[in-house]
Amino acid sequence: MSSLFRRKPMAPPEADANGHVLARTLSWPHLVALGVGAIVGTGILTLIGVGADRAGPSVILSFVIAGAICSCAALAYAEMATMIPTSGSAYTYSYVVLGEVIAWVIGWSLILEYSLVVSTVAVGWSGYAAPLLTPFGFPATLTQGPELGGLVNVPAIFIIAVVAALLSFGTKESATLNAVLVVVKLIALAVFVAVALPHFDAANFHPFTPFGFAKSVSPDGVERGVMAAAAIIFFAFYGFDAISTAAEETKNPGRDLAIGIVGSMVACVAIYMLVAVAAVGALSFTRFADSPEPLALILRGIGRPGFATFLAVSAVIALPTVLLGFLFGQSRIFFVMARDGLLPQALAKVSSRGTPVRITVMTAVLVSVIAGVMPIDAIAALANAGTLAAFTAVCVAMLVMRRRAPEAPRTFRAPAAWPVGIIGVLGCVYLFFSLPSRTQLYFVLWNAAGLLLYFAWGRRRASAMLG
Ligand code: ALA
Repeated sequence: MSSLFRRKPMAPPEADANGHVLARTLSWPHLVALGVGAIVGTGILTLIGVGADRAGPSVILSFVIAGAICSCAALAYAEMATMIPTSGSAYTYSYVVLGEVIAWVIGWSLILEYSLVVSTVAVGWSGYAAPLLTPFGFPATLTQGPELGGLVNVPAIFIIAVVAALLSFGTKESATLNAVLVVVKLIALAVFVAVALPHFDAANFHPFTPFGFAKSVSPDGVERGVMAAAAIIFFAFYGFDAISTAAEETKNPGRDLAIGIVGSMVACVAIYMLVAVAAVGALSFTRFADSPEPLALILRGIGRPGFATFLAVSAVIALPTVLLGFLFGQSRIFFVMARDGLLPQALAKVSSRGTPVRITVMTAVLVSVIAGVMPIDAIAALANAGTLAAFTAVCVAMLVMRRRAPEAPRTFRAPAAWPVGIIGVLGCVYLFFSLPSRTQLYFVLWNAAGLLLYFAWGRRRASAMLG
């Protein structure tokens, strides 16, 4: 029984039994760019439309709530990532602080988060790319999955393949390209705000909460309300956690990880509030709710089609940074789980360029299948469920360590750790229960399958590795 809760030592292993190590090539500007690159994406560009459908104009409030909860989790992440700088992120913190079986569940949740974010963003990318492709004769049935009347989402699969190839090429090259694309993305959002804000009409905010606050089922069967929207919009705010998976590739992890995580989170909260107010103020939410390209639609709706095309092209060029951040993170988490013996060792093989190619390719194939056939809101909700579990664990781990080892050196100390940790935990739990009921069920099934695998196989393998 006690082996279920055995903990890993705090010092990160530099290499596994076969000598697998990752190359240290990154410093804090790369990490802030990786963070902003991974955060600003489909959440603000596409899911703002889903959020507006679920909450009406009070989607603004959903942004505030989701942003506040995510900020608490970001502070906990920064403290834990600088204390335990390994690539495994929440999985490793749980292994060190909360014990093996919890680490396994969190690792399993992280797989859900990272894989499904890649699928979601690829579908979001396709939402902006498809209207640019179809005038050239690209068949519309190949731009959406079956649930929306298409056959398969080919652009989504295409973009995953491109990003996986780039990541296999090298970490440093990917990080540099990422920094350039982040600038493109920020310019596009700045242009959106500058063009949409002069069309601000306070009447678009009435009635402010047409679907109420707590989650409830609308007559059409969809679960709506400010919190139901917050549970989806939550997607827009995370991505800073992908930075922590770069710990073993960071030159000075103690300092750089804290700057990267907190810096990118603060920047993104400010940007989102501006974009959300500009979007809802410019056009009645009923006109852009559930659109595959809401921000471009708003610009067309206010009579600025040229800027709409500019925004769509910029999204197509720059959205892949989110894919880059998460596909990178996913491969690193698989890498650490394999190194710990919880996944097959052969997967952790590092190429001569210092990147885990096999895992990157395997992940890309899995997420392509999902992106090819599933609708965006369903994938995003499930990604959020996994992320909420991981964020809860990180907040709990921070609080446990504050009690268990109050004097241990911490390069970054979360301010007001107890209120921050407790708000983080309670907020994540409330958001989880605000997700669609079907998502909650899938999440439980996924973890039940994970636990079966643990007891049938992973537990023995991990024992052999830990000795
Ligand atoms: N926060 C990331 C996005 O919005 C996952 O795409």
